[in-house]
Amino acid sequence: MSQLPAVEIARAATPQGEIALRRRGAVVELIVNGVFAMDSAEVASEIALADAAGPAPGRVLVGGLGLGYTAARLLDNGVRHIDVVELARPLIDWAVQGVTDQLERVAHDPRVQLHHGDVAEWLPRRPDAFDAILLDVDNGPAFLIHDRNARIYAADWLRSALDRLAPTGVLVIWSEDAVPALAWTLATLGNLEESVVAVQREGRRFDYVLYRLRRGTNVQS
Ligand SMILES: C[S@@+](CC[C@H](N)C(=O)[O-])C[C@H]1O[C@@H](n2cnc3c(N)ncnc32)[C@H](O)[C@@H]1O
Repeated sequence: MSQLPAVEIARAATPQGEIALRRRGAVVELIVNGVFAMDSAEVASEIALADAAGPAPGRVLVGGLGLGYTAARLLDNGVRHIDVVELARPLIDWAVQGVTDQLERVAHDPRVQLHHGDVAEWLPRRPDAFDAILLDVDNGPAFLIHDRNARIYAADWLRSALDRLAPTGVLVIWSEDAVPALAWTLATLGNLEESVVAVQREGRRFDYVLYRLRRGTNVQS
């Protein structure tokens, strides 16, 4: 975070804790459950998450609206339809109201449907087959913003998510860093590829990880 003063754009209480948007200069910050979740200064990994769905993907599920960078990149990539599932109702309302240009663009594109809900419960109930399921709802299983998100990284839930994929579909999970236990679980469920997105933030290097899972045998094992 830069040393510029933060100006609050919006703040609301939710059953899962407070959510807020702040601006520091040109940079927008998202605070979830009182924890800094992300900002708009460095979004290479959010964009790489969208790119992992491939060019012009068909139907994509995005878990976690955030500041809308993954969804916006999917739109740029020619996606046919995006279902965005977001836990914090106020964030959806702010997107519709256009509190930031990026969120406004995502909320008003006819290819996007915004759903208020917990993706852990929303996805297993859906009959749809997704070409890609992109999950960026938390930091990863080692440092959760919402404790209840632990279930998203558990084998049973991940298996149910794989069942919602089209035959050639891909499930991609963003993680703040490499988590060997998660990689092991995923490798027991399908064909796993792991890629690192190295980013520099204020002079520090962060190695974010994308776990991509497809149905089939794990070629790495
Ligand atoms: C880091 S942000 C996502 C960033 C997004 N990829 C982007 O490009 O801006 C995480 C988002 O997931 C939401 N979230 C957290 N847990 C969730 C859950 N279980 N289901 C749906 N959304 C969730 C948070 O409220 C937050 O908006």
